[in-house]
Amino acid sequence: MEFFSINVEFLPLDLVLNFDLYVNASKGQKAKFVKVFPKDDVLNQYFKEKLKKYPGIYVPEHQRNAYLKLISKDPSIDDVHKTEIIKDSAVKYLSEIYHNPNDEKMIVETISKCDETVDSLISVIEDKSIDSLKDLIADLSFHDFYTYDHSINVSMYCIAIYKGIFPNCDKSELTNVGMGGLLHDVGKLSIPTSIINKPDQLSDDEFFRIKTHPEKGFQLMKKISSELPGHINWSQVTNMVIQHHENFDGRGYPYGKKGDEIDVMSKVCTIADIFDALTTKRSYNEVISQDKAIEILASLEGKKLCPEIFGMFLKHMKAYVPEGRRNKVLDEKFDPSVPFKLIPFTEVKQEKEEEDYGKIITDENKKAAS
Ligand SMILES: [Fe+2]
Ligand SMILES: [Fe+2]
Repeated sequence: MEFFSINVEFLPLDLVLNFDLYVNASKGQKAKFVKVFPKDDVLNQYFKEKLKKYPGIYVPEHQRNAYLKLISKDPSIDDVHKTEIIKDSAVKYLSEIYHNPNDEKMIVETISKCDETVDSLISVIEDKSIDSLKDLIADLSFHDFYTYDHSINVSMYCIAIYKGIFPNCDKSELTNVGMGGLLHDVGKLSIPTSIINKPDQLSDDEFFRIKTHPEKGFQLMKKISSELPGHINWSQVTNMVIQHHENFDGRGYPYGKKGDEIDVMSKVCTIADIFDALTTKRSYNEVISQDKAIEILASLEGKKLCPEIFGMFLKHMKAYVPEGRRNKVLDEKFDPSVPFKLIPFTEVKQEKEEEDYGKIITDENKKAAS
């Protein structure tokens, strides 16, 4: 039997626990776990204090979802800790997928378990205003740039953004968009991690291989979706997998779809994907604040991002984006799938262009300006 460790502080008092608690009594090579609290019993203050005296408390892996469900609904745990616990579980599931890229049965089983994770994320996010979500996102942005951690952030942002844009949407839509966010990069599992996490400039061949991940993910989802839980709209999730690198202006990949050819949830995923790539501290040498990231996103409006969806996102984030021209815009070659060491910016020479205003452009003028 496998176990995972938990923090006793977060166990709710005077409630029936629907999972067992164990302590680790292993000696040398011999693993041994001893049950110290049985499921279906009520945990009181006296026993909780006793549990705190052990160096670690563990729950059996097969009861993880029961634990997650109880924690995500407990009002006494703050949202940052709650989300941390949910993220730990999701990391566990996603790392299982990424470490077993050829085991289809395991992938089906693990994706089915992710359902509970998305459900828990929704229950934390659902009742929150977008303003406090901004704080929640800020508190959680210290994570590493591993694909699965990125995926959990994207899932959380997708749920939050979609909920902000469509406050009256059904829970099932949040489940679909959250699951799409969680699996958007699933195609990366067939690409070597040495390429995925390479901090240096990628060769053309390596970049080409990374760009195959939407299609690879699409093929995997098509193959396994009939075996996955029926209440999720897998064709919607699969759309997000294949479309999240399409750009509003038609210059994305794999198909170069544009405007309304890209569905709304995929457009939301594109915002979430770039936002996380910019704000995750390990991905770049420089640390980007949330407001700065939103300003950078604004420079992509009409290019990578749909103006209508991005406009609604901005409105609900209540973010301030300075008006007028920007002197730094994100470079064309920026791709959220590639962990550049430095964020590639292009300087916009504002003054020159203002001087040129009204002038007749001749070849000589152009030469003088360059
Ligand atoms: Fe991607
Ligand atoms: Fe991504």
